[in-house]
Amino acid sequence: MTVVLKGVLLYGEGDPVDVLVDDGQIAEIGSGLTGDSDATVIDAAGQILLPGFVDLHTHLREPGREYAEDIETGSAAAALGGYTAVFAMANTDPVADSVVVTDHVWHRGQQVGLVDVHPVGAVTVGLKGKQLTEMGLMAAGVGKVRMFSDDGVCVDDPLVMRRALEYASGLGVLIAQHAEEPRLTVGAVAHEGPTAALLGLAGWPRAAEESIVARDALLARDAGARVHICHASTAGTVELIRWAKEQGIPITAEVTPHHLLLDDSRLADYDGRNRVNPPLREAADAVALRQALADGVIDCVATDHAPHAEHEKMCEFAHARPGMLGLQTALSVVVETMVGPGLLTWRDVARVMSEAPARIVGLPDQGRPLEVGEPANLTVVDPDARWTVTGSALASRSDNTPYEEMELPAVVTATLLRGRITARDGKAGA
Ligand code: DOR
Ligand code: ZN
Repeated sequence: MTVVLKGVLLYGEGDPVDVLVDDGQIAEIGSGLTGDSDATVIDAAGQILLPGFVDLHTHLREPGREYAEDIETGSAAAALGGYTAVFAMANTDPVADSVVVTDHVWHRGQQVGLVDVHPVGAVTVGLKGKQLTEMGLMAAGVGKVRMFSDDGVCVDDPLVMRRALEYASGLGVLIAQHAEEPRLTVGAVAHEGPTAALLGLAGWPRAAEESIVARDALLARDAGARVHICHASTAGTVELIRWAKEQGIPITAEVTPHHLLLDDSRLADYDGRNRVNPPLREAADAVALRQALADGVIDCVATDHAPHAEHEKMCEFAHARPGMLGLQTALSVVVETMVGPGLLTWRDVARVMSEAPARIVGLPDQGRPLEVGEPANLTVVDPDARWTVTGSALASRSDNTPYEEMELPAVVTATLLRGRITARDGKAGA
């Protein structure tokens, strides 16, 4: 398949160019390119070309909760959101704690063919926090697991976490921590602060996250192992990561689009769509997270795309399952919170949504420069278009978006995976 992208701005910079994609690679960059007679020509005048996005934190619910999402519907959402690789979290049913499950996830993703679905392996058997999984077997499987996480729950036992870091370092894989000291979040459904107090909701203190971030930074230092902090949500976490990086500790961190844009003032109407773990914090936390992403203290954006069925969200707030859709809205929220206000350039968007995540997890074929000879994992964005989010119109099987009826900037107009168009003008398809 040959594709010609006409008139794109590489990283949103310089003069418009044509990009010829052939045989899965960027074959030529220049002007007046047409390709052969059966080339697909995409008129993208004034649009921005970026390396395909990489999401380190996606819940695709397969196996086990296909009524909420599966690898096919989640892959379509990913392609439409501009993603060419996603990491599917291990809190499925059965848990992805064996090579049978992790290889299934990889195979199914390749069969669907819309995005590379990289399986995340569980750190502990059944996510129970007691016994380490056979990380080596999962890493050596066809699905080549590169990242391990008990996300959804925290690896809270410090000795188990220490051992996990030691083994991971030997295997050259990454441990990603959902930082939540469970003794501090018993019954918690919202950020602990004035809003939760007023609404009568049980609070989740910042210290529940920050105490684990601090602890794991020290464990990583002593193990000489890398640790990745999932969904950083507080100003204090930012300060701890800044400190750890200054010490030379090999720590990285992600922030979600919803923690950049939203805060706990949204909880006033008890709408279950706003329930998420970690919870929406205060406006000052969101400001600190934006600044940290701009400064590079936080390395990347990850969606924590967490589909839940209607009956699991549209109920009493304390009973609503935590989690929000994120794949199709991530870029727009990053543009709204970061590019619009001048905190990031489009060049930086390539870094935080593609290059940094690919580097953190060691993906050789993603987050590559837009140059001839590189794999054609690409995203085309119309920076001037705006759209209104409608949950039911998203490709996910669930529609639990917190952005319902919100108008957002920037539209992904095309996504290419190894030179194949996986999404175009709002339609996903291989
Ligand atoms: O809000 C969340 N939802 N946070 C998590 O850590 C897990 C996720 C899920 O699996 O639904
Ligand atoms: Zn989590």
